[in-house]
Amino acid sequence: MRIYRAKNYQELSRKAANIISAQVIIKPNCVLGLATGSSPIGTYKQLIEWYNKGDLDFSEVKSVNLDEYRGLGIESDQSYVYFMHHNFFDHINIKPENINLPNGKNPDAAAECARYEKVIESLGGIDLQLLGIGRNGHIGFNEPGSAFERLTHCVDLTESTIEANKRFFASADDVPRQAYTMGIQSIMHARRIVLIASGEDKAQAVHDAFFGPVTPEVPASVLQLHQEVYLVADEAALSLVK
Ligand code: F6R
Repeated sequence: MRIYRAKNYQELSRKAANIISAQVIIKPNCVLGLATGSSPIGTYKQLIEWYNKGDLDFSEVKSVNLDEYRGLGIESDQSYVYFMHHNFFDHINIKPENINLPNGKNPDAAAECARYEKVIESLGGIDLQLLGIGRNGHIGFNEPGSAFERLTHCVDLTESTIEANKRFFASADDVPRQAYTMGIQSIMHARRIVLIASGEDKAQAVHDAFFGPVTPEVPASVLQLHQEVYLVADEAALSLVK
């Protein structure tokens, strides 16, 4: 594991974007695994800036996102597909046919999860997976207790995740109760992983994930077993790491 200690969110975003852009330059038709949430917004902004300058070309890049709320589609501004278009895809030259997310509108969970795993497989796997981390150590929507061997599946969200995500909705009652998520095994198959963490409220999760025991109780701790992980975090998120 490599740790990049950034002074602040801006520096963290620049570093994460730098690793992603190197991936795109080395392999222009790479498969990027992408995440939503607050953490990667700065990274996407930085990538867009470099794209606008002419330094990056996404025309051959393929993307697969980690997760999507069950029941939500692009018409909902809380959906992850909306988020990705709004914060990234609509500002770069990625081809629409190269964008992949779980389809939250497919009510058949088993069929949708199997379809999504096939998509990842047909692309030849993920070259670089970008991750955030939940305050409870979750990655994707793999909550504490998730089995490490799971592939894409449908999950019931925990109260703590509903609580953390309600800031994006009118109220906690509006947060969907289920989501489709890549499983931990799907994530671990990625050839390279970049996890970004910002702020003091992530400090305990970062400490437990990277410096505690490997346990399903802290889903991100499985990353200690991955051969190429970059932890890009600011000083606040690393404040419990000696
Ligand atoms: C997002 C995702 C989640 C977030 C995590 C951190 O696609 O899968 O695991 O990465 O909840 O969220 P933020 O960045 O909002 O703190």
